[in-house]
Amino acid sequence: MKKKIVAANFKMNKTDEDIKKYFAVFLDRINGLRNKTSFNDFDAELIFAPPFTSLSETHKIIEPYMDFIKLSSQNIYSEKSGAYTGEISIDMIKSCGCVYSIIGHSERRNIFKESDELIGKKIEAVYSGGGMTPILCVGENLEIRKQNGQEKFVENQLAVGLNYIKGRNIPSLIVAYEPVWAIGTGMPIKADDGEAMHGFISDYIISSFSIGELRVIYGGSVTEANIKELMGKPHIDGVLVGGASLDPQSFHNIFKLAAAQ
Ligand code: 13P
Repeated sequence: MKKKIVAANFKMNKTDEDIKKYFAVFLDRINGLRNKTSFNDFDAELIFAPPFTSLSETHKIIEPYMDFIKLSSQNIYSEKSGAYTGEISIDMIKSCGCVYSIIGHSERRNIFKESDELIGKKIEAVYSGGGMTPILCVGENLEIRKQNGQEKFVENQLAVGLNYIKGRNIPSLIVAYEPVWAIGTGMPIKADDGEAMHGFISDYIISSFSIGELRVIYGGSVTEANIKELMGKPHIDGVLVGGASLDPQSFHNIFKLAAAQ
């Protein structure tokens, strides 16, 4: 049975000091929950993607909870090593305790001009790390959505993003469907529209690639107010939360509501 995912993308927020304060509160709440409920009943996995600078500190803090709290980077570069000033490789994040890496977030695509081609190479690099799983982000902008072109657009992002692994047996993949118009806007997707896109993504991947375990998660203005409805949809396997993950109490509430489905 697939484990649901509740993931936090801290983006460019929090120093090590902030991380220590955050987890002091968050883990206190989690321990409280743990005492009340059997954790196996939750059937959910928590993932944290702090900035590169806090991967090791976060790993140290969450290590005792590694059975259900996992670490992700927000990005990597596609090459293994070499003269790439300012970049970070898959082996480097693995050595910090990561088992996931977010790849192709729309902020990387739009602000840092990452191409589908580069994202495809990064996906291949994640798998070359051994035991690592990418969280491949896809999603259309508002103009495309208004023209009802979201399926074609996302299909193309998936086809190019997964091009280098075509024909290979892939044990595990996470796709984060994050429509650009929903990120940081307070305008989440309607749960039924999300369900339709997640069903589409899942059908496309299953029919085109050989993936052992596929989970399709949603990102874009997820809060305590909409988490239950989103998680109630059969094709929504979890969430990737930005803004609302920055406050430990609020992210704990999101996890509690998501895991209790
Ligand atoms: P918000 O939750 O702030 O909309 O961000 C979503 C996101 O980009 C997660 O990767």
